[in-house]
Amino acid sequence: MGVLDGKTAIVTGAVGGIGGAVAAAFILEGAVVGLIDLPTDALTEEARRLGGHPLPADVGDESSISAAIGSFLDRNSRLDILFTSAAVQLHGQDASAHELDLDVWERTIRVNLTGTFLTTKYAVRPMLAQQSGSVIHCGSPTGISGVGAGYDAYSASKGGVHALVKSTAIAYAPLGVRVNAIIPGATRTPLIADLLDDADWEIQLTNSTPLGRLGEPEDVVGLAVLLASDAGSFITGALLCADGGMTAR
Ligand SMILES: NC(=O)c1ccc[n+]([C@@H]2O[C@H](COP(=O)([O-])OP(=O)(O)OC[C@H]3O[C@@H](n4cnc5c(N)ncnc54)[C@H](O)[C@@H]3O)[C@@H](O)[C@H]2O)c1
Repeated sequence: MGVLDGKTAIVTGAVGGIGGAVAAAFILEGAVVGLIDLPTDALTEEARRLGGHPLPADVGDESSISAAIGSFLDRNSRLDILFTSAAVQLHGQDASAHELDLDVWERTIRVNLTGTFLTTKYAVRPMLAQQSGSVIHCGSPTGISGVGAGYDAYSASKGGVHALVKSTAIAYAPLGVRVNAIIPGATRTPLIADLLDDADWEIQLTNSTPLGRLGEPEDVVGLAVLLASDAGSFITGALLCADGGMTAR
């Protein structure tokens, strides 16, 4: 018996560190899970390994994400859970505003913020029709404080995600759909692998984490399962940190 028995879920960025760990946990807890990521062999292999359904899509492309969610709904009559993890952080290109290229800003916003909006748009519709559902986005400490200095596009995209959580949580609460975000700390995944290749960055990120270590993708899983399950039924509009205390400073 899993706490998500009988539920269906879509996870975006499912080939990534956090998305992959959350998709695996949802499947272990009994959910039928559709895995969205860019169309690569890695997605096919991840879905096969976990026992989920591959849904290749670009979250920043409306027709692509709408088709992927539509094909999941064709096979499953309902959608109970959305976990959005797809994101980019353009190391070596993202910068402070005065030296940030518009193209880098737009590429970041397109995936991280527009992608979160578009995924929400098509995933929430069946939830509203069935009058129940749980939407969980990935936020970031960079959307709360200045910890993302030098990454203005990424930071702004995550601040936008946090605002989207609040406004959609209020709009959808009377209709039975909850919306929250999990805010991971510095977590050892491909997203920040470039940074962690530099020992100075690893030390800096570890030192900025009061619990004194980097996060692992599994550190996010407990909150994700809680928010997805009926145990989280009174939680909406929340930005919940699994960040080792980074944002408590
Ligand atoms: N790793 C960290 O330190 C950290 C910290 C705070 C917040 N986060 C957030 O957590 C979430 C998961 O990050 P992660 O560390 O697992 O990253 P990751 O790079 O391991 O995974 C991101 C996934 O998103 C996919 N993706 C990128 N662009 C896409 C697109 N256009 N369409 C579909 N899929 C796309 C990638 O292929 C990848 O599999 C992200 O929202 C990230 O911003 C991560």
